[in-house]
Amino acid sequence: MMVCEYKPGLEGIPAAQSSISCVDGQKGILEYRGIRIEELAEKSTFLETAYLLIWGQLPTSEELKEFEHEVRHHRRIKYRIRDMMKCFPESGHPMDALQASAAALGLFYSRRDLHNPIYIRDAVVRLLATIPTMVAAFQLMRKGNDPVRPRDDLDYSANFLYMLSEKEPDPLAARIFDVCLILHAEHTMNASTFSARVTASTLTDPYAVVASAVGTLGGPLHGGANEEVIQMLEEIGSVANVRPYLEDCLQRKAKIMGFGHRVYKVKDPRATILQDLAQQLFAKFGSDKHYDIAVEMERVVEEKLGHKGIYPNVDFYSGLVYAKLGIPTDLFTPIFAIARVTGWLAHWKEQLAENRIFRPTQVYNGLHEIAYTAIEER
Ligand code: ACO
Repeated sequence: MMVCEYKPGLEGIPAAQSSISCVDGQKGILEYRGIRIEELAEKSTFLETAYLLIWGQLPTSEELKEFEHEVRHHRRIKYRIRDMMKCFPESGHPMDALQASAAALGLFYSRRDLHNPIYIRDAVVRLLATIPTMVAAFQLMRKGNDPVRPRDDLDYSANFLYMLSEKEPDPLAARIFDVCLILHAEHTMNASTFSARVTASTLTDPYAVVASAVGTLGGPLHGGANEEVIQMLEEIGSVANVRPYLEDCLQRKAKIMGFGHRVYKVKDPRATILQDLAQQLFAKFGSDKHYDIAVEMERVVEEKLGHKGIYPNVDFYSGLVYAKLGIPTDLFTPIFAIARVTGWLAHWKEQLAENRIFRPTQVYNGLHEIAYTAIEER
């Protein structure tokens, strides 16, 4: 039998061949289907980027128009899903609500026709269209309000912000939010994508694939970190307190949220773009003391941990942007999921195209040949 070296966290072990995105963690480069993230953030929209990731190339203007039209007209969720969500405890985390709601879609669309391109297209459109509606609906219902109907005359991001606040958003705010979705749409073989591919490899339905990935994204070492960043900035409270706070964390060997990455050993390019977006928001809508604390944190962490390749990751500045857009902290990770459903669906399609069920091995380090002890003798 071949003996393999056990790598905790499967570090460095390829789990798939993929042409969807690529990260150069030494140079700080991220590409979707070969296109640099900076270029997409400047020139594309979230739905166009979703099309690129899922179907492998940029759409023509006709293809994009059709795709946008389909997504726009599938935004409403079934009354029965809404009623189910009404029964969720209002104190529950919105990620758990999203996971349950995404899984529930599978009850309504249970036909599984994974070889049929029309089925694939329908599932992609339905998930991209309804996940924002479900996130916004739970947000309103947990406060005792009725959900707001999606507006077909608004673009993807503007509609989501509208459904949250019942106010048409400022165009700059909507554009910045759309760029945030582009930045979070895909990121190679991270934990939630791996989870999506493992689930996909069993040939289950795409709703189960997305539900399993949502569950994985929720943890504080993955998507949940952006919530913790804001709590940490609040705890620090002032620029003067940054250094003592960080020194205390380092002494306790506590992880500093929003810093470090398994792949990036320089500043995450998405953090650079998000920092710029945060500055644009502050220039238009007024500054925020959290931003000054964040900039000082980046400086001190680089001084203390730069030699270990610990720099800001995507979660460090995204929370600041969302908070400035008036989004409650516990919606940050569901928003990450709204964007990342794109990457999960792209990986679902790629997995189906050349599927083999995941069945890794393990290094057994338990006992053998142990005699059963009768209960009265234990
Ligand atoms: N703060 C302080 N030290 C850190 C941090 C951090 N945020 N991240 C890594 N380190 C240190 C570790 O203590 C370790 O030091 P050592 O070699 O002296 O023991 C070294 O850097 C390597 O760290 P690992 O934990 O082995 O790195 P790993 O690749 O396993 O973890 C992770 C990556 C989970 C992102 C980690 O950096 C972390 O916990 N960061 C904080 C949480 C966070 O921001 N998560 C969001 C990631 S981005 C995303 O998921 C979208």
